[in-house]
Amino acid sequence: MEQRKIAVIIGSLRKGSFNRMMASAMAALAPQSLKLEVVEIGALTLYNQDLDGDPPAEWVEFRNNVKVCDGVLFFTPEYNRSMSGPMKNAIDIGSRPYGHSVWDGKPAGVVSVSAGPLGGFGANHHLRQSLVVLNVPAMPQPEAYFANAQAIFDKEGKLADEQAKKAAEKFLMAFERWVEKNLNRG
Ligand SMILES: Cc1cc2nc3c(=O)[nH]c(=O)nc-3n(C[C@H](O)[C@H](O)[C@H](O)COP(=O)(O)O)c2cc1C
Repeated sequence: MEQRKIAVIIGSLRKGSFNRMMASAMAALAPQSLKLEVVEIGALTLYNQDLDGDPPAEWVEFRNNVKVCDGVLFFTPEYNRSMSGPMKNAIDIGSRPYGHSVWDGKPAGVVSVSAGPLGGFGANHHLRQSLVVLNVPAMPQPEAYFANAQAIFDKEGKLADEQAKKAAEKFLMAFERWVEKNLNRG
């Protein structure tokens, strides 16, 4: 199977992010056909439509980095029952200028990792709401809500919980099929 490049977008900017840990774990667990590469969003200035005519260099770089990928994996924390500000900002920047969205038609998966007991369900689904208008086919099953994050990673940040590891592997196997089925839908 041809190798597909997958842009990994991590919605948390903090160093010890559980979402980043999960992204690293999934990059290691992913089948050969998926190459997961983090596209950083921390340096993106806030989206402002006035700048669309002459966009900041970091917006252009971000858009280009996503554009060359075959699919996208979002790893979102939950902030007040929604996705984080940086995640929404990145989605908005990628979606503009109008008619030139870099997300259009790219097969995607949404993973949420939370310190709370609900696994970031609210954030996961708010993010999916934006993907609908962006014409992004987001994999419906299996869902990936990882709860009580502090209990599933070890001190080195490795995914240590066997059940969570199995869920991550199952998610990735399904995502591999999802990407193949939904390539170039834009
Ligand atoms: C501003 C803010 C709001 C939060 N709101 C929620 C929430 O609504 N639901 C939840 O499960 N956790 C919430 N948390 C806790 C996060 O789940 C926790 O900080 C988690 O570690 C964030 O992901 P990260 O480790 O990738 O940074 C909130 C944290 C912050 C800083």
